[in-house]
Amino acid sequence: KKQSDTRVEWKKISGKDVSFVYFQGSFIGNFKGRAEIRHSSIQIKNVTRKDSGKYRCEISTPSEHGQEAGETEITLLVLVPSAVPVCEVPISAMSGTVVELRCKENEGVPASKYRWYRNNFPLSESLMLGNVKKDRLPYAMNTTSGTLLFNHVSKNDTGEYYCEADNEIGQPQKCPVKRMQVDDLNVSGIIAAVVIVALIIASCGLGVYYAQKKGYFSSKYICFYN
Ligand SMILES: *[C@@H]1O[C@H](CO)[C@@H](O)[C@H](O)[C@H]1NC(C)=O
Repeated sequence: KKQSDTRVEWKKISGKDVSFVYFQGSFIGNFKGRAEIRHSSIQIKNVTRKDSGKYRCEISTPSEHGQEAGETEITLLVLVPSAVPVCEVPISAMSGTVVELRCKENEGVPASKYRWYRNNFPLSESLMLGNVKKDRLPYAMNTTSGTLLFNHVSKNDTGEYYCEADNEIGQPQKCPVKRMQVDDLNVSGIIAAVVIVALIIASCGLGVYYAQKKGYFSSKYICFYN
């Protein structure tokens, strides 16, 4: 059979949407200029995550029994290395409280696994039996969600923390180190309280001052003191 009589079509299927990739001998839309056809196969260059999905190839060719047709579907998953994760680490915490450190990146395909490090040592993954923690570690590290949870944080948990995201496509990526300081007394809370009290005293003083200026206190009252 002559190759020219064979019709090849490629479509991309996203849910209920079907769009042409290759139709009547040319590539369509954003496949133009970055895809090539070889026999009935297509080769796409500069793939991005948006190219992931289901593709269908339909071939029909004339024969003595009329038109012969066949089709096949393939799924393309574009792998993307992990990006540098964003980490949330509290600067300070009061011992005994619940503290959660978070780590996340949204680029990686497949999704990254996360691991936390303290003072450059990897923290061990929690040993889980279903949803029940089966270890004596003072924290629970979830390598899927990227969280490191302390139910009762202690002074010993003070340290330099960072997290690493890895999906085994590219290099593991880590966030900048952040220090968490755990104290028995919430020193920053005390400082904040002192500042607030000082502000209240100062604003009361100002209030009295302006009240006097505006004559809310009688001059007799002031004279009495004079
Ligand atoms: C870890 O986090 C994932 C995603 O949030 C959740 O589905 C899973 O149940 C968590 N695992 C444990 C053991 O808590």
